[in-house]
Amino acid sequence: MATSPTHPPRSANELRSAFSGFFASRGHTAVPSASLIPHDPTLMFTVAGMVPFKPYFMGDEVAPYQRAVTVQKCVRAGGKHNDLDEVGRTKRHLVFFEMLGNFSFGDYFKSDAIPWSWELVTEVFGFDGDRLWITVHESDDEAEAMWHEQVGVPMERIQRLGDKDNFWQAGDTGPCGPCSEIHVDLRGPAERAAVDGATLVNNDDPQVIEIWNLVFMQFERKANGSLVTLPAQHVDTGMGFERLARAVVGASSNYDTEVFKPYLRKLEALSGLTYGE
Ligand code: SER
Repeated sequence: MATSPTHPPRSANELRSAFSGFFASRGHTAVPSASLIPHDPTLMFTVAGMVPFKPYFMGDEVAPYQRAVTVQKCVRAGGKHNDLDEVGRTKRHLVFFEMLGNFSFGDYFKSDAIPWSWELVTEVFGFDGDRLWITVHESDDEAEAMWHEQVGVPMERIQRLGDKDNFWQAGDTGPCGPCSEIHVDLRGPAERAAVDGATLVNNDDPQVIEIWNLVFMQFERKANGSLVTLPAQHVDTGMGFERLARAVVGASSNYDTEVFKPYLRKLEALSGLTYGE
């Protein structure tokens, strides 16, 4: 399963461009990042790349394009998606971050989204497939079969999990659906030999981290908790840009990446202190 592109993208701008270019060449319109303040009374901030597109998922508005790719600025500092308590305690949570995402508005669904994500992660970003773990919703036989039969991921690298890990919705109400995640094991050879990565997926291990979430939007969550099937099926994916920047260089912290270096250098100059000491 290992692949090795000759010149994999590594810098922050190369990574953003590689993601956008990959989906632009597959018919996606590159849409600029929307405001952090959403036009949405159910959310305080834009918490994910899908937020500006909610009316398209709900069927309230017709999308001007059927496929979109974005690098969306996000804040998770309150409400259902609140990372505030994790920031500073882990090396992978941020209050402000960028989310790389591809979207289908009633166009393609799982059978394109899944193989494209694998192709991008292994052939463009250069991840070794033997370090990747896949999770699917426990009810999603279809996604599991696509990962295994279409993409070739061994069954022992696919985990079926419940709503807590593999069902996604932006707020208490609104569009939602089962999801499938890609996790990467960044541990060294000795640690990998000692402890099976399977046991560390979704287990708060600092080196076995989720990098991409593919949501198969097909329901609306009503205020009374019930699920109603949406008029069409959609795709909403989100990859944490800073985590990607960290994972492609094998760093052990989001902060040890080119994304944060200019800020850290400036802080060192201003404070006279050395980062890391
Ligand atoms: N909306 C999903 C998430 O934020 C995928 O983009 O994880």
